[in-house]
Amino acid sequence: MEGARILIVEDTKVFAAYLKKNLEKLGYIATAMATTGEEAIEKAAQLHPDLALMDISLAGGLDGIETAKQIRARFDIPVIYLTSSTDMETLERAKISEPFGYIIKPFDIKVLHTNIEMALYKHQMDRQVRKSEVGLRETLDQLKSTQSQLLQQEKLASIGQLAAGVAHEINNPMGYIGSNLGTLQKYIGKIQQHDQIGLDIMSKLKKLDYPEVQGLTQEIENSHKQLKLDFIFEDVGALIEESLEGADRVRKIVADLKSFSHQAEEGSKETDLNKGIQSTINIVWNELKYKANLTKEFGELPPVLCYPQKINQVVMNLLVNAAHAIENQGEIRIKTASENSHVLIEVSDTGCGISEENLSHIFEPFFTTKGVGKGTGLGLSMAYDIIHNKHGGEIKVDSRVGEGTTFRVYLPLTPKGENGLHG
Ligand SMILES: Nc1ncnc2c1ncn2[C@@H]1O[C@H](COP(=O)(O)OP(=O)(O)OP(=O)(O)O)[C@@H](O)[C@H]1O
Ligand SMILES: [Mg+2]
Repeated sequence: MEGARILIVEDTKVFAAYLKKNLEKLGYIATAMATTGEEAIEKAAQLHPDLALMDISLAGGLDGIETAKQIRARFDIPVIYLTSSTDMETLERAKISEPFGYIIKPFDIKVLHTNIEMALYKHQMDRQVRKSEVGLRETLDQLKSTQSQLLQQEKLASIGQLAAGVAHEINNPMGYIGSNLGTLQKYIGKIQQHDQIGLDIMSKLKKLDYPEVQGLTQEIENSHKQLKLDFIFEDVGALIEESLEGADRVRKIVADLKSFSHQAEEGSKETDLNKGIQSTINIVWNELKYKANLTKEFGELPPVLCYPQKINQVVMNLLVNAAHAIENQGEIRIKTASENSHVLIEVSDTGCGISEENLSHIFEPFFTTKGVGKGTGLGLSMAYDIIHNKHGGEIKVDSRVGEGTTFRVYLPLTPKGENGLHG
C-alpha cells in the first residue's frame, strides 16, 4: 500500500536512518521516528500512523512490547517487531501484544516489505470485520425492537378484539336488564299504592260497628304483618335502586371496553387525559383491587394533543407493574398535574422496588424479572418508545428496594416534530 505512513521506533540512530531510507524507497512515508517508548506513544497520539515498526529493547522506562501494547490499545495501530531477540520468553511476551509481524535482525528488505504489506492488509480487513460487526449488532437491535413492538401491538390488538367482542355481547342483555328494572320499579310503585288504598279502607271499615267485618279486616291486617309487606315495600325499592346502579356500572365498563378497543385504531387528538386514565383504571381494576389501595389525585389538565390509546397503554403497563410489585397489600397512587410546558402523569407504589443493577435495564425490550409466562418484558420498552419517540416526552423512574417505585411521565403540551407528533 503505497503512501502508508509508518512510525519507526528504534534507539539505534544509524539503523533507524537505514530503515527510513529503505521505507521511502518502497514508496512508504516514514512519518516519524522515536527512540523511546514514551516518545513513540506521543508521536502515535499526534500523527496516527498506519503502522509502527518497533524495536523491542529500547532505552527508557518502556520497552518495545509495553509500548506496542499501549499503541495497539489506545490508537488501534498495528505493530511489527524488528528485533534481535530470539529467546522464547521475549517471544511469548511479544505474542500477548498481538503483533502483526516479528522480524529477526538482520533481515532482507524484501522480508520487511512483505511483512508491512501483510500487516496493512490484515489490519484493514480487521477493521472491516469490526465495522460489519457493529452494523450487524445495530441490525440485531433494530430487529429486536421491531419484534418487541409487533408483540406488544399484537397483545394490545388481541386485548382490543376481546374487549370489543365482550362489550358487544354484554351490551344487549344489559339493555333489557336496565329497562326491565325501570319498569319493575314503576309496577312495584303501583302495587304499593294499591296496598295503601286497601289499608286505608281497612282502617275505615274497622271503625264501623260490624263484628263480622271486624274479623275480616283483622285477618287482612294479620296477613299484611305476617308477610312483612311494609318491610318488603321498603326493601324492594332499595333492591331495585341497587340493581339499577349495578346495571349502570356494567354499562360503564362496557363503554370503557369499547373505547379501549376503538382507541387501538385511533390517531392523535386533543385529549382529556384524566378521563382516559380513569377508563384505563376501570379496565385494570381487577388486577389492582386485591393488591392495593388506589389513590387518585387528578389535577386540572388542559387538553393534550397525543395518541390517547398509546398513553392509555403506558398507564396500563405502569399500573399493572405497580400491582405486580406489591406482594401482599400496598398502596398505589396515580397523580396528574399540569406544569408549565408539560403535563405530568405519576404512578407510585409501595412495592418491592428495583435494584440498582436492574434499574439500568428495565426499559430494554425483553428485560423481565417475572417468571416464564408472567412477563414478556415489553411493557416499559413500549412505554419508553411511546413517550420518547412518539410524543417527544420523557419517562423517569425513582426506586428504592423495599420501599417502592415512582414512574413519572412528562408529556409536552406543544409536541415537537412534523404535525406535532411522530406516528
Ligand atoms: N413498579 C415496579 N416495581 C418494581 N419493579 C418494576 C416495576 N415496574 C417494572 N419493574 C421491573 O421492570 C421489569 C420490566 O418491566 P416491563 O413492564 O417492561 O416488563 P414485565 O412487567 O416484566 O412484562 P410485561 O411485558 O408483561 O409488562 C419488570 O420485570 C420488573 O422487574
Ligand atoms: Mg409490565
